[in-house]
Amino acid sequence: MPTCFSPIRVMCTGRVDMSWILRALSAGTDGILICGCHPGDCHYVDGNAKALGRVELLRRLLDQWRIERDRVRIEWVSSSESARFAQVVNEFVNQIRLLGPVRVTDASTPAALLASNDGGLP
Ligand code: FES
Repeated sequence: MPTCFSPIRVMCTGRVDMSWILRALSAGTDGILICGCHPGDCHYVDGNAKALGRVELLRRLLDQWRIERDRVRIEWVSSSESARFAQVVNEFVNQIRLLGPVRVTDASTPAALLASNDGGLP
């Protein structure tokens, strides 16, 4: 696993709050990869489907804020697919390296507004 990659484990992709992603981007995290169970395999029934919808919406908002949408990606990788997980992580890290550092330049974006709060990452 690339040293620049920091995994954060949650119980289900449905638990990933999109405000966490905005805060991470605002704090200088260059990319966020969400990996979850394949469709139909979520232990919480539809957490992965909900996460997919939220990520698609967030990526559209990133377009509006002129932040590259490819900085946020969701992939289906089961716990038994270690080789696929490594491949997905390496591909994502390489893609983010090509994009370079994230810049949240528009002060009116929620990402910038969240960065100005004292709350920090959860
Ligand atoms: S338990 Fe919901 S995505 Fe894995």
